[in-house]
Amino acid sequence: MNAKLLVAGIATLALSAASAHAADNRAALELIRKECSSCHGPRGISVSPMFPNLAGQQAPYLEAQLRAFRDHSRADPHAQAYMWGMAAQLTDDTVKDIAAYFASQPPARGTAADPAEVAAGKKIYENGITAQNVPPCQSCHTPTAGGNGPFPRLAGQHRRYLEKQLEVFAANLRANEIMHANAVNLTALQISQLAAFLSSQ
Ligand code: HEC
Ligand code: HEC
Repeated sequence: MNAKLLVAGIATLALSAASAHAADNRAALELIRKECSSCHGPRGISVSPMFPNLAGQQAPYLEAQLRAFRDHSRADPHAQAYMWGMAAQLTDDTVKDIAAYFASQPPARGTAADPAEVAAGKKIYENGITAQNVPPCQSCHTPTAGGNGPFPRLAGQHRRYLEKQLEVFAANLRANEIMHANAVNLTALQISQLAAFLSSQ
C-alpha cells in the first residue's frame, strides 16, 4: 500500500469512529429529552427541589452516581424510588455521554437565602467545626464549591436536596464512608445553614 492510500485509509477509519460516537451521543441526547428532562430539566436545571440540578456537575461524579444507581450501591429511599429504574437501562457508553452532556451545561445560579444563615454556613464550609470533628468542606469540594472530579459541585444545588443528602449520609442510608464521617456530627441547624450557603452560591 502506498503512503497516500494508507493516510486515506486511516482518515476513513477515524471518520467512521467519530460518526459512530456521534450516533451514540445522539442516542444519549434523545434519552435525556425523553426520560430525564421531565425531572432534571432539558439542560440539567430541575424544577423541583427534590430533583438535583445536574448542569455543570463534575462528569466523573455523575458517571459514578449513574453506575451506583445501576448497581444499587446508592440505595437511599429516593435513589431507589426514582433512579434505580432510570439507570437500569444505561450502558457504560451512555453513562459517559450523559455525564459529558450535563457537565458541559452552565450551572444553576444560586438562590438567595437569609444572610445570617448563609454566613453561618459559609463559616462551617470554610473552616469546619474542630470541636465536632467536622473538617472544612472546601478542602474536597473546592473553595468555590464547584467540585473537582469525584468531589461533586455543591454551589447552586437545591437547598432541600443538599439537606436531604447530608441526612442520608449521616444515617448511612446513602453509603459513603467519607461523607458519613463528615455529616454524622452535624446538627440539623448546621445542616440547614450549610445548605443555605451552598444553594445561594
Ligand atoms: C421521576 C423523576 C426523575 C427522572 C425521570 C430521572 N431522575 Fe435522576 N434523580 C431523581 C431524584 C429524586 C434524584 C435524587 C435521588 C436521591 O435523593 O438519592 C435523582 C438523582 C440523579 C443523579 C444524582 C445527582 C447527584 O447530585 O448526586 C443523577 C446523575 C441523575 N439523577 C441522572 C438522571 C438521568 C441521566 C435520568 C434519565 C435517564 C434521570 N436522572 C431521570 C429523579 C429523577
Ligand atoms: C475528604 C473529602 C470530603 C470532605 C472534607 C467533604 N466531602 Fe462532601 N463529598 C465527598 C465525596 C467523595 C462525595 C461523593 C460521594 C459519592 O460518590 O457518593 C461527597 C458528596 C457530598 C454531597 C452530595 C452531593 C450530591 O450531589 O448528591 C454533599 C451534599 C456534600 N458532600 C456536602 C459536604 C459538606 C457540607 C461537607 C463539610 C461538612 C463535605 N461535604 C465535606 C468528599 C468530601
